[in-house]
Amino acid sequence: MTVAAIVPAAGRGDRLGPGQPKALRTLGGVPMLVHAVRALSRARLVDLVVVAAPPDGVGEVKALLALHDIGAEVLVVAGGAERQDSVARALEALPPAVDVVLVHDAARPLAPSELVDAVAGAVLAGHIAVVPGVPMADTVKRIAPGEPRDGERGPRSELVTETVSRSDLRCIQTPQGFDRAVLAKAHAMADATLTDDAGLVERLGLPVVVVAGSAEAFKITRPIDLLLAEAVLLERRANGAL
Ligand code: C5P
Repeated sequence: MTVAAIVPAAGRGDRLGPGQPKALRTLGGVPMLVHAVRALSRARLVDLVVVAAPPDGVGEVKALLALHDIGAEVLVVAGGAERQDSVARALEALPPAVDVVLVHDAARPLAPSELVDAVAGAVLAGHIAVVPGVPMADTVKRIAPGEPRDGERGPRSELVTETVSRSDLRCIQTPQGFDRAVLAKAHAMADATLTDDAGLVERLGLPVVVVAGSAEAFKITRPIDLLLAEAVLLERRANGAL
């Protein structure tokens, strides 16, 4: 069985504030994308990594990866307008021998290699779609826009309509793992733009299995996530894990 890992890395990351594309921002002096690709290539079960780069940044990403010690075969393709398009383009570029595909966001640079192997292992054990999930920490409420009041300034107020039980909810991370044929079919038949790949498999009515996620696989979205990531890297260095 040949396992490939696709890394959608073509997003701008506007929620982080102005600057370079998110995947090229550095953590501990190393671009996020390099951290993510290293985590995948260090996993025992991953044979090949395919990066979907910003369409105008393919050469830059190739040069960047060549500069760093990656340790696995890496292909770079041009990504698309949405995350889903970026994954679809990388899927098209996979060699025929690949039968298991992981999809891992560059925006989750510190996902442990053990998590990568756990997801790949579950697919190799026969599950056609596997996602890592973690319980939710916060209380979850559904809201609706409140009534606008005369002279109200700033963002419109919101009203709580329901408190949702969180016991059967999970926050879903990446890497997500798939039987290649299933993921290719899910993308080919996609009739909506979703924020993850397992969602497309769910729309085909096929089962998606959840395995235990990792706190360190958090997604870097807001500026405070960068601080947390730097702290995780400091701790790994102190423990000799880097
Ligand atoms: O923006 P967000 O954090 O949800 O992006 C998730 C992942 O999808 C990131 O790694 C980002 O680089 C990637 N992406 C992409 N192509 C796009 C938009 C996002 O590869 N057009």
